[in-house]
Amino acid sequence: MRLKTVLIIIAALPVVLISLFFLYSFILSSPGSGRDLSIQKGVPFPALMAHRGVSGLAPEETRPAYLLARELGADYLEADIQRTRDGVLIALHDDDLTRTTNIEEVFPDRAKDPVNTFTYAELLRLDAGSWFNEAHPQWARPSYKGLKILTLSELIEIADGGFHKPGLYLETKSPEMFPGIEKQVVDLLKERGWIGQPTALEQEESSTLEESPGKDPTRVNVRNTPGRIIVQSFSQESLKIFRDLAPEVPRVFLFGQDTVEQAGSFEAVLDQAAEVDANAGPSGYMAWPWYTSKIHARGMIVHYYTINQSWQMWLINQFGADGIFTDRIDIALDYFGRMEEPDLEEYFKRIEY
Ligand code: G3P
Ligand code: CA
Repeated sequence: MRLKTVLIIIAALPVVLISLFFLYSFILSSPGSGRDLSIQKGVPFPALMAHRGVSGLAPEETRPAYLLARELGADYLEADIQRTRDGVLIALHDDDLTRTTNIEEVFPDRAKDPVNTFTYAELLRLDAGSWFNEAHPQWARPSYKGLKILTLSELIEIADGGFHKPGLYLETKSPEMFPGIEKQVVDLLKERGWIGQPTALEQEESSTLEESPGKDPTRVNVRNTPGRIIVQSFSQESLKIFRDLAPEVPRVFLFGQDTVEQAGSFEAVLDQAAEVDANAGPSGYMAWPWYTSKIHARGMIVHYYTINQSWQMWLINQFGADGIFTDRIDIALDYFGRMEEPDLEEYFKRIEY
């Protein structure tokens, strides 16, 4: 064989292999393959979750992070729910307060103590915003200084308070530390009209998930659909409690590579999810079409976490994902052609931060 022919084959080989891979991927799990399943479950497709609010642009799980997510048009506001010593439900990711507050200055002797050892009044003394300005100087804003830890009740007000009506995607974080937290969450959501009877708007518009005459396509209205709340947890036990308390609320079993190793196989993790009638929330490292197709084959939808780059969004969409959690909902909305206004500063003006 002539050298030129060999070089052409070598140059073409990667293109051929990549094309074959995408063809194989398309056969296994194509974009939109979980759309009908999502709609059946009352969940928008693709579902775009603002992970801890727009936590890439504002201090996670604080008021501006969620206001910004709502104004940008996220489908869901994602939050990790924990409880103070005196029983207040709050939005906070870590078990302690060292990373995201100035606790070392305010309570130096208790800095590493878990959040459930503090009263809500004590937490109100903390600054939950300044750390972000130091960690992310390119996104720092003077108005982030002195932000307070948000309660679940305040988060519900934010979700209910704008033109866009996003849903809530709530995670019980370390639920073994907060016995009874699931009932407390469900009770609060019932009290605020998020669980229970259909909302007025839901009754008016039988479905806002599908395109329908009269539906405003520019308005997020997940709040007024059956999937307005999704509960999620790494704890199967916590999801079991939610299923018993509010079976109509969609559940998502979160897992990572370590969960798969402990369970012994990917199928064994899906068995655990199936036992509590949950859907799947795997780490984005597992967003391969052969996993997505296995999840769909079980009748589950799949939302991957945490996807922040547009090329990852493209790839995961190609591989058939039904939704993503992202710290940069602006990038996700832009990728899916849903950004109304390209200038982020306009949104900051709207939320007055
Ligand atoms: O909810 C998906 C994702 O939030 C799970 O991971 O650690 O960010 O709560 P984490
Ligand atoms: Ca979470």
